[in-house]
Amino acid sequence: MSDGLNGIPDAVRAGQPTVWRNPHGRPAAEILPGLAYGLAEVAEAEARWRRFDPLLARLFPELATGRIDSPLLCLGPDVAAHVAGFAGARVLVKADHDLPVTGCIKARGGVYEVLVQAEALARRGGWLRTGDSYARLAEPDARDAFAAYTIAVGSTGNLGFSVGVMARALGFAVEVHMSHDAKAWKKQRLRDLGARVVEHAGDYGSAVAAARAAFADRPDAHFVDDESSVDLFLGYATAAFDLRRQLAEAEVTVDGANPLHVYLPCGVGGAPGGVTLGLKLLFGDAVRCIFVEPVAAPCLLVQLAEGLEHPVSVYDIGLDNRTAADGLAVSQASMLVAGTVGPLVEAVVTVEDTALFTWLRDLWEQAGLRLEPSAAAAFAAVGPRLTLSPEARGGTHVVWTTGGALLPEAEFRTALGLGIR
Ligand SMILES: Cc1ncc(COP(=O)(O)O)c(C=O)c1O
Repeated sequence: MSDGLNGIPDAVRAGQPTVWRNPHGRPAAEILPGLAYGLAEVAEAEARWRRFDPLLARLFPELATGRIDSPLLCLGPDVAAHVAGFAGARVLVKADHDLPVTGCIKARGGVYEVLVQAEALARRGGWLRTGDSYARLAEPDARDAFAAYTIAVGSTGNLGFSVGVMARALGFAVEVHMSHDAKAWKKQRLRDLGARVVEHAGDYGSAVAAARAAFADRPDAHFVDDESSVDLFLGYATAAFDLRRQLAEAEVTVDGANPLHVYLPCGVGGAPGGVTLGLKLLFGDAVRCIFVEPVAAPCLLVQLAEGLEHPVSVYDIGLDNRTAADGLAVSQASMLVAGTVGPLVEAVVTVEDTALFTWLRDLWEQAGLRLEPSAAAAFAAVGPRLTLSPEARGGTHVVWTTGGALLPEAEFRTALGLGIR
């Protein structure tokens, strides 16, 4: 092609739904030992979450134990057959659309990164003594100290909300940079929390870049960088421990003979990438991770297809990054994610907006799941992927629903009405 990007299939360029099997995929055993982050780092992140359990339980009454996790649901046989395209399919839902406190997967990274900052500040300030419960950080003196510090983030909405909820609950000042076309209700929800919302004329990537520049030299602030934060990445990765525990409780075996296929909506790549790292560390290649992107914004697909030499955006191949899946409207993938877990991604499936709305409606009517368009994406990917890879049918399929429970009623009703019968 004249743009010199030769690895990208014509159907992807044409904005058609595609199943792209990653030709650069490598075995976990070959890739994991060479990565900068391994089980030790993810286990350390998990231990940090547990240290914060008493504080989270104190700040958010809906968290009985302080643990922010979602249920693992088993779809009934008819819905499972509808999703997978054949009778007898085993389909589970990792219901992060219903994650407590924030109603979206981005909490796993966003809340976690705020906790990392809070812990570092508290240790530096001597507000936590050995043996203290972290619940102490909800006391007025700690809140007053946090108030002198700003947590900033660039976001399509859900990361900003997750960071905003946690940071405001601790007393931090919060500044969220968003693209002009980010959903109005997501901006309003942040303002209601007391966050400052800064709007940018360009897309999500330019909002992130502007915020990064604005906070580069601010000793009184921390910028949560959706494109390159290791803390976000490790926070997402800890989800693998939750899923492993729930699979064991549900008596689902995961091994070479019983593979687990996990379908993950992908925006900049942090959430699906972190989850993939965690799952590969725990299960190796018994887990296959399939990323799902809108046809207009397949940023990780184009980056993986072209290799890691230089960043490639969806604009470079003539796509416009316009999608109703606002959380996935990202033109350029995280190079941290592409470089870390790229070879561990089994396939990327691209889906049309019409399919998102139809699945959103079907899952509401047939299973009572309240999803936002981005979160319905993974359902649209299962059937096409299994048509191309029928040998994968026998395993267990986990659809990761990534957001939606906190969607305002009017937004949800509008989305429901857009599904095609
Ligand atoms: C609902 C929802 N699903 C999936 C994602 C994708 O996460 P990431 O951008 O880390 O790939 C997002 C991102 O904001 C989201 O809001």
